[in-house]
Amino acid sequence: MSFDRNIKIAPSILAADFANFGAECAAVEAQGADWVHVDVMDGHFVPNISFGPTTCAAIRPHIKGVMDVHLMISPVDPYIDAFAEAGADFITAHVEAGPHIHRTLQAIRGAGAKAGVALNPGTPAESVAHLLDLTDLICVMTVNPGFGGQKFIDMSDKVKTLRAMIGDRPIHIEIDGGVDQKTAPIVAQAGADVLVAGSAVFKGGSVSDPAPYGANIKAIRAAAEGVYV
Ligand code: DX5
Ligand code: ZN
Repeated sequence: MSFDRNIKIAPSILAADFANFGAECAAVEAQGADWVHVDVMDGHFVPNISFGPTTCAAIRPHIKGVMDVHLMISPVDPYIDAFAEAGADFITAHVEAGPHIHRTLQAIRGAGAKAGVALNPGTPAESVAHLLDLTDLICVMTVNPGFGGQKFIDMSDKVKTLRAMIGDRPIHIEIDGGVDQKTAPIVAQAGADVLVAGSAVFKGGSVSDPAPYGANIKAIRAAAEGVYV
């Protein structure tokens, strides 16, 4: 897969109908989603529990494109193989999840997935300075992780710093949390290319009426592409 730095919209299924994951993934992709973002939460690293590798394996056949798995869990390493076997294209671990993020990224790539590292709002960009050759994606949290529908926390300075650190390396900058038509231009202007959106994509639609998904994706994409360089 060649490196694509164009704007990509990655709906988070944390905001989807939990009784209909497979159909929701297919619907949101049919309505224009570029990636599907899967928020795994363990109730320990974050104060919420969502789903695990079994759910990822179950939805994999319903996702034609990229399955982007965001692990909000600690520890990470014992579960990497299970998520890779479930078909994750990207597996992202939090730099705050343990003392050995360097080894975790090696293990993710060793399991055959692309490696992502996520930074909570309080974590500086410099924390990934020694990880750039092991990383395919940096996820900048613009909410404190655990829940959808939270208020956007502006991390533009961190995104700009990361953009400068990355240079021309093939590393995606992903924004996660509170992304909608208003906040998308802020982060695109700063240099992010993957925009995760849960509530802003799934609002107003359903598997039986997915058209709002498409309208929401189009609005977010247009707002971002209008300023993205
Ligand atoms: C939060 C998750 C985000 C969240 C995004 O911990 O990592 O992906 O689901 O949801 P919205 O777009 O509603 O903020
Ligand atoms: Zn996420």
